Order: sequence, then C-alpha cells, then structure tokens
Amino acid sequence: MKFQTVCIVILVTIGFAAAQNNTTFPDGFLLGAATASYQIEGGWNADGKGVNIWDTLTHERSYLVVDRSNGDVADDSYNLYMEDVKLLKNMGAQLYRFSISWARILPEGHDYKVNQAGIDYYNRLINALLDNGIEPMVTMYHWDLPQKLQDLGGWPNRELATYAENYARVLFKNFGDRVKLWITFNEPRTFMDAYTSDTGMAPSINAPGIGDYLTARTVILAHANIYRMYEREFKQQQQGKIGISLDNAWCEPISTNDVDACERFQEFNLGIFAHPIFSKEGNYPSVVIERVDANSKAEGFTTSRLPKLTSEEVNNTIGTYDFFGLNFYTANLGKDGVEGGIPSRGRDTGAILSQDPSWPESASSWLRVVPWAIRKQLNWIANAYGNPPIYVTENGYSDYGGLNDTSRVFYYTEYMKEMLKAIHIDGVNVVGYTAWSLLDNFEWLRGYTERFGIHDVNFNDPSRPRTPKESAKVLTEIFNTRKIPDRFLD
Ligand SMILES: *[C@@H]1O[C@H](CO)[C@@H](O)[C@H](O)[C@H]1NC(C)=O
Ligand SMILES: *[C@@H]1O[C@H](CO)[C@@H](O)[C@H](O)[C@H]1NC(C)=O
Ligand SMILES: *[C@@H]1O[C@H](CO)[C@@H](O)[C@H](O)[C@H]1NC(C)=O
Ligand SMILES: *[C@@H]1O[C@H](CO)[C@@H](O)[C@H](O)[C@H]1NC(C)=O
Repeated sequence: MKFQTVCIVILVTIGFAAAQNNTTFPDGFLLGAATASYQIEGGWNADGKGVNIWDTLTHERSYLVVDRSNGDVADDSYNLYMEDVKLLKNMGAQLYRFSISWARILPEGHDYKVNQAGIDYYNRLINALLDNGIEPMVTMYHWDLPQKLQDLGGWPNRELATYAENYARVLFKNFGDRVKLWITFNEPRTFMDAYTSDTGMAPSINAPGIGDYLTARTVILAHANIYRMYEREFKQQQQGKIGISLDNAWCEPISTNDVDACERFQEFNLGIFAHPIFSKEGNYPSVVIERVDANSKAEGFTTSRLPKLTSEEVNNTIGTYDFFGLNFYTANLGKDGVEGGIPSRGRDTGAILSQDPSWPESASSWLRVVPWAIRKQLNWIANAYGNPPIYVTENGYSDYGGLNDTSRVFYYTEYMKEMLKAIHIDGVNVVGYTAWSLLDNFEWLRGYTERFGIHDVNFNDPSRPRTPKESAKVLTEIFNTRKIPDRFLD
C-alpha cells in the first residue's frame, strides 16, 4: 500500500471510530414517533367508516374503561392530521409509525366494499408526510378489528388469515407506491390476551389457554400469507419491507434456579410469534409445544389446546420478514413456579412474576423504569434469531399529564443509552426507533387517565390543541444532533 492510501485508511478508521461513539446514533439510523388509529383518529363513524371492536366495547361496555371514555373523537387526527405532521416536522423526525383503521378502509371487514373516503384520508396523511421528508411506517393492524369479523369469531377463526391477506392487498394497491415500511401486526401478544378475560381489552372474551393460542395461530398464518402475497404480487415493483411488531417485558431471573422459568416466559410471550417467523427451524418453540400438549392432557383435554401448524405452514412462515419490530417498555422478575387458572397460558408457562419495588414507577401498574432491560432484550433477540435488523417500534413512559415531564425525559435518555450500548458494544443490528407516543391519546382501558404523549393534548378543548412537553424538546435535540446530550451522560 502507498503511504497516502495508508493515511486515508487510518483517517477513515478514526472517522469511523468517532462515528461509533457509544452515545451517538449510527448513520442511517431512523428516529421518529408512533401512534395508533383508534387511539388518536376519532371520526369513529365519519364518511362511511365501519364499526370496530373498540367502538363496540367503549359504547356497549363502557364500564370496562376506567373513566368510561372512548375514542369517538380522541385527538381528532382524522381532521387534524396536518397538525401531527407539523409536530413531527418540528422535531426533525425521519419516521412516523401510524396504523390504518381496517374498518375505515373496509367497513364490512371484507374487500368487496372499499370506502374511498378512508383511502383518501390515508393518502392525504401519507402525502403530507412525504412532502415534509418524513418516511411513513404503516401498521396494518393495531387492535381495531372490524366488528363484522368479530361477529364471525374474531382472531380465533382461522379464516381471518385470508381476510387479513385480502385487506393487506387493498393497502398495497392503494399505498404501496409510497409506503415502503409495513408492519403486519402490532403486539399480537397483547391482543391474544384479549381472548383470556371478560374484563380485558376488546373483544374482552374469557377463554384463557384456548382463545389466546387460537389467536396466535391465525396471526402467524395471516402474517405469512401477507408476506408471501406481497412477494408474489407487489415486491418487484414496490420494493417495500415487511415486519411485525412484537412486545415483551424482559424477564430477569431472581436466582440461577429461575433462568429456565424466564426463558419459558420469553418463549411463551415473544417466541410463540417470533420463532415461527424469525428462526431457521420455524414452528412454535418446542418448549411451548411440549408444555401445552402435556398440560392439556393432564387437564383432561382430548386434543391439545395448542392448534398446530402443518409442516407446509411451518415452511411457508420461515423467513417471512425484512425486519423485527420490538415494542419494549419494562421488565419483571421471574421465579420458577406455577400460577394462573386451569387452563391458562400463565400456568403453561410456569413462571411467577413480580416487579422490583426499587424500580421507578409510572402511571401504569405494569410499567416500571428498567433501562438495562432493553439491552438484554435486544441481545436475546439478536442471539435467538441471527441478528436481524430491528426497529424499536414502541418505547415510552406514562404519567398523569403535565408539560414538565422530567420522568419521561429520564426514561427516554436512559433507555436510548442502553439501546446504543446494544448497538455499539454488543453489535445488535438496531436500525430505527419510534417513540411511543407522538401524542397523549385514548389509552385503551385506562381511557385518558394515563398519558404516554411527548405532546400534551387538551381533551377538554374541541380544537384539541397540541403542546410539546419537555420530553418532546429533548427528543427534538436528540433527533437533530443524533446523540444523547452531554448533560444526560454519567
Ligand atoms: C462522544 O460523545 C460525547 C458525548 O456527546 C462527546 O463529548 C465526545 O466528544 C464524542 N466523541 C467523539 C469522538 O465523537
Ligand atoms: C464504548 O464503550 C465501551 C465499553 O464501555 C468502551 O470500551 C469504548 O471505549 C467506548 N467507545 C467509545 C468510542 O467511547
Ligand atoms: C418442509 O421443509 C422440510 C425441511 O426442508 C422438509 O423436510 C419438509 O418436507 C417440508 N414440508 C413440506 C410439507 O413441504
Ligand atoms: C421541571 O421539574 C424539575 C424537577 O421537578 C424542576 O427542577 C424544573 O425546574 C422544572 N422545570 C420547569 C420549566 O418548570
């Protein structure tokens, strides 16, 4: 090598080392914020939208929502979406993750009747984002199933794997020329639990240990169908990427005797969806199959409560991803042991969970602040599934409202620092991050009592004014400097 070449190599190496600063976001890493249709849009019956299961739950069983509120108007983003785009633009966001309301596009759930006003709404939003240099990341399903499909049984009905594919085709046809990042499902772990209790999320059906596994199978089949259909019909022309957003709370073993219990917890909550899609061998994790089969038998069931995937379905599902979406908030302590009713997925898992009282609290009972857990969870995924590209598609903190949200600032800066350690020190392939959430919104069964927004929304004012909180200001600084500000470093 010539001396000049050597110098260039050395300079490039030093430049790279600087760029690899542990508190700096890598080049190409996308930063932004996230929302979901039912939580922000309102317009629940506007312009031909059909009824979905959250409309039904909030209207007919409002006692399930702590403040008896609903998403009829919510943030009114159906009308005020330009305000949302402006907030993102002001922050320097590169990415906006939002979801499409299935019943706004297909009021009957099926694709024989397309609501043009719904298509027009999302076209306006997508075009406004692109005009402002913000990349849309679209979630196809964030929990608001058309009621017509719930009437047919909802997710436990495996025909929904076909109906979801038909819905996705309508989305690719109408938006795929401009949308290049697609998420099939948001947190199936959460909405399979909507079939385990009649005081839970919509549709709030009490079939634990049965409805959740039926839901899991349909979602896995639907995801694979959508991915393969895109490959056949759209990918060559549209060149988009498809993933799924899975959520999990990290399980930290209380002692060395509890390591297996926490591994089981990972497999029964994350692996049940991730293993069929992201692992080389496919199918449900073997520990899930073995334990549900054994418990079913012991409980007197003639057939296992876990509906199996056929060998063809297993093969068809392997590798149906371009990225892994992770929604991550918190951790639990895990201990070997059995809790939960007969039957239940909790009992099948065989782990007893608690939270360390020294972990700082939030407004949500399930959410304590455990920054180091995101690094462990990211490493677990990288090790289990061959280090796929990961978008952290949700991460955030709840309080009771207010603009000076110092606890949320602490949460974001500490979790981001740990995520950056996973990237720079551990080599985990995290490629983007969308904070949950752009706005205060309808927080499901917690109504408007728990606030996750980086922007405050005044729900008493019909014009729903949005105001940046302190956290939005700090994230704006981070999005623009692409590093954690020095004042937040130890
Ligand atoms: C790394 O980041 C810290 C904190 O922002 C900063 O003080 C330092 O100058 C950076 N180093 C390099 C080499 O970029
Ligand atoms: C990043 O952190 C690791 C481990 O703490 C340390 O060895 C390395 O020097 C750090 N790199 C930079 C550029 O600060
Ligand atoms: C699925 O793939 C495995 C491994 O390649 C193969 O042995 C099996 O025959 C396949 N099953 C079907 C139904 O194609
Ligand atoms: C926000 O709250 C923190 C801690 O309670 C306090 O130190 C700070 O002065 C407050 N900032 C504003 C602008 O009120």
